[in-house]
Order: sequence, then C-alpha cells, then structure tokens
Amino acid sequence: MSETLTELAAVSDTGAAVADAEALLSAELLEFLGCRTPDAWVAWALENPELLLIDHAQCEKKAASTAMSLLYRYVDQPLLLTKMSQLAREELLHFEQVVKLMEARGIAYRHLSASRYAEGLRRHVRPADPERLTDILIIGALIEARSCERFARLIPHLDAELAKFYRTLVKSEGRHYEDYLMLAQHLSTAPVESRIAFFVEREAALIQEPDTAFRFHSGVPA
Ligand SMILES: [Fe+2]
Ligand SMILES: [Fe+2]
Repeated sequence: MSETLTELAAVSDTGAAVADAEALLSAELLEFLGCRTPDAWVAWALENPELLLIDHAQCEKKAASTAMSLLYRYVDQPLLLTKMSQLAREELLHFEQVVKLMEARGIAYRHLSASRYAEGLRRHVRPADPERLTDILIIGALIEARSCERFARLIPHLDAELAKFYRTLVKSEGRHYEDYLMLAQHLSTAPVESRIAFFVEREAALIQEPDTAFRFHSGVPA
C-alpha cells in the first residue's frame, strides 16, 4: 500500500472507531447534555495518561461516596436506597478496577486537587429539602452523563485494554445517569424541568471554559 493509501486507511479506521464509540451513547443522553466535550480536552487527556487514570480513580471513589451520603440522609426513600446502594457498589468496583490498572502500568496513586467542576455545580444546590435532594440528583445525572460521554470520546484513541474497560464503563455510567434522572423526576415535589435546564447550562459552561489543570472533568486548556 502506498503511504497515502496507508494514511487514508488509518483515517478511515479512526473514523470507524469514532462512529463505533459514538454508537454506545444513547440519543437521550446526548440530548440531555448542553454541549459535547471539546476536541481540545480529548487532546489534553491523551497528553496526560497518568493524570487521567489517577483522577478517574478519584472520581469513582467520589461517586461512591456521594451515593453513600444519600443513603445516610434519605432513609425514608426506599427507591433511592436501592438505587444508591447498587450504585455505590458499582462505583467502588470501578475504583478497584482503575487502581488495578494503574498498578499494572506502574502509575503511583497520589492525591490530586479537585477540579472546579463538581464544586462549580454543587455551589448552586439549594440548602433545604426537598429542593436540596432534587438538585443533588440532577447534578448526579449530569456528572454521570458527562463521564459516559467522555469515556466514549476517549475510546477510539486508547490502547485495547483501556478501550475495552472504558466501553464497559460507558454502559454502567449511562445507567447511573438514567437512575439519577429518574429519581430526580420521581422524588421531586415540583416540576424539575427548569432546574434541569439551569444545571445543564452551568455544566456546559464548566466544560467549555478554560482550566489551568487537567482533570477528568476539566474544561479546555487555558
Ligand atoms: Fe463509575
Ligand atoms: Fe457512575
């Protein structure tokens, strides 16, 4: 094959891999998010493979911890207890899987400062229930949907082992997004649409604004 043909084949391989990964995302999820992850973030992630995995491990642990705190606070909500208990277990399993992968790759686990993303959303949570719970559940849906979308964006550019792992995560985080959204709609005492629209807009801004440090949920390089 001539060099140009090889290049063309490589380009169409990437195109096919991108389409393949995109097909893992549901139309509802893509419609829910206010924007797609910018290409600049994908390039930034590929330049920081170690930070990506360390911060990913952090995110899984935090996701489990958020679910656990809901288990403690809302004991009178059986559906929430069932869903959050399952979710916490799955997130901890993801955490173990990422840590194992890091160990196999000789990546040392170290503390990282949090990105402004989660705090940038949580600062808008209304202080009193039932509004507080509604907001936390909407934010949960957004974080899960964004994680899902970012895994799918990364898959075409990763090695086979990591790509395979991230494909399984697209599925579970996609389910978590659905569960959070369902709980927000089910447990809220008032219509949630305007509150969802508010957080979707905030989230899209955090994703598109410049950031100084790379993290799994960071914006674009400053
Ligand atoms: Fe997870
Ligand atoms: Fe999740």
